Amino acid sequence: LKAKYLDAIGAAADEATLEDLRVQAVGKKGEISLKMRELGGMSPEERQVAGPALNALKDEITSALAAKKVALADAALDERLKLEWLDVTLPARDRRAGTVHPVSQVWEECTAIFADMGFAVAEGPQVEDDWYNFDALNIPSHHPARAEMDTFYMHRAEGDNRPPHVLRTHTSPVQIRSMQAQGAPIRVIAPGRVYRADYDQTHTPMFHQIEGLAIDRDISMANLKWVLEEFFSAYFGTSVKTRFRASHFPFTEPSAEVDIQCSWEGGTVKVGEGDDWLEVLGSGMVHPKVLSAAGVDPAVWQGFAFGMGIDRIAMLKYGIPDLRAFFDSDLRWLRHYGFSA
Ligand code: PHE
Repeated sequence: LKAKYLDAIGAAADEATLEDLRVQAVGKKGEISLKMRELGGMSPEERQVAGPALNALKDEITSALAAKKVALADAALDERLKLEWLDVTLPARDRRAGTVHPVSQVWEECTAIFADMGFAVAEGPQVEDDWYNFDALNIPSHHPARAEMDTFYMHRAEGDNRPPHVLRTHTSPVQIRSMQAQGAPIRVIAPGRVYRADYDQTHTPMFHQIEGLAIDRDISMANLKWVLEEFFSAYFGTSVKTRFRASHFPFTEPSAEVDIQCSWEGGTVKVGEGDDWLEVLGSGMVHPKVLSAAGVDPAVWQGFAFGMGIDRIAMLKYGIPDLRAFFDSDLRWLRHYGFSA
């Protein structure tokens, strides 16, 4: 009996087999337990021999079971350690780092160049009051410029008859906000997101502008031209001429659209050389009505303002033909243009 169980325990390959053996041998109805029950029917002499022998057998089998159980657990652990072994000498897995988005890069670069010329950064909300986006900029309710702007309107609650908020269509409302906050003299730029319902190769419903505003006692279009030429030369890293074309904006008088000098070579634009021109911004002398709306006295103060597309000049600098690609978040595209690791 002893040999039978000890052999079987030795050969058991898993815990379930071991448990079966335990039940068979020393379980309530196990072979050894039954034999122990027979002790009652024996003569005292027989019992004195058989009793201790059976007890010893039971102890021996019980401890053999326990020892085998530990051995099986050890073997299982060894197996796991072998499987989960880690080779620390293997090369590390490639981890790509994120980088600053091209539009953010250009945004920061513009801010730095204007900061060198003494312009502070101003901000305003993207969900704007229509008074700031339009009225204060001399664009009254039924002015055609409102219709032309492809404005996104925010709906008011039912029964609320105040004019709706808008997603700002340009950064010009920041002119009003910063003059209200700071008065004159003032020299600020306002980079930010703007929104218009428009979508094609050169238009996306969200895009970025940078507004410039300089108000003082003695500011003219000549100062504007100098600031812009300084800016473009610093930004493109080469001397860039500008051309002013008479234009019209409700919030400036006179108004000018500004082109930069460039050449077209087989479809690619090179800024700062050649005799072609590329429109890059709108500008002018801030309209007296705009100064008044912002609480600045037009009899004392005057100055220029301009608004330029950040994405537009980013496309020019990096030779990117489709504006929409900026906002697709396609890593292959970003890597192709060297904007991501
Ligand atoms: N806000 C104008 C636009 O978005 C640009 C502009 C700004 C023109 C400031 C003149 C002065 O087109």
